[in-house]
Amino acid sequence: MKLSEAREKLRACCSPDLFVHSVGVEETAYRLALNYGADTQKASLAGLMHDYGKSFSNERLYRIAVENNLADDLSLQEPSLLHAPVGAWLLKWELGIEDGEVLEAVKVHTTGAAGMSLLARIVYLADYIEPGRTHSGAIEIRELAFSDLERALLGAVNLTIKRVLERGRLMHPGSISFRNSLILSLRKK
Ligand SMILES: [Fe+2]
Ligand SMILES: [Fe+2]
Repeated sequence: MKLSEAREKLRACCSPDLFVHSVGVEETAYRLALNYGADTQKASLAGLMHDYGKSFSNERLYRIAVENNLADDLSLQEPSLLHAPVGAWLLKWELGIEDGEVLEAVKVHTTGAAGMSLLARIVYLADYIEPGRTHSGAIEIRELAFSDLERALLGAVNLTIKRVLERGRLMHPGSISFRNSLILSLRKK
């Protein structure tokens, strides 16, 4: 699927706010990919479509997840997590996006995971720092994003974990694994 087609598809099915956020992530992912030598086309497409699942109701996401065995038990209990794995599945089966790297980046963009690809890391970070994110954490991490990818990612996952704790939500083990993997990698430097 071409980027222009994907953009029109998204514009037609999601809210204006989500569309603006998605284009922000697309553009930020493109710039990060250029900076870190990742595939800019894949980064743009994954960034643009990462929240495609959000255009579906929680009830529908839950049903698709259960029927197709797309989510772990914890994600089934936390509706805000489901749009990522179900979104990746919908991109494949509804829109015909076949690229495994793009689908994987969409799948893990909310929680993170240990061993994420460069593309997935770029989408995760772009989602955190796109221009529409104006909170202090995003501003701080945006300054690091183009010079130190791992430190910027660690900052983003730390603040995400903090927010989950403050809100009393369930903590996905993928976020903890991702954080640990970043710390271990940074220790080696
Ligand atoms: Fe998301
Ligand atoms: Fe997002």
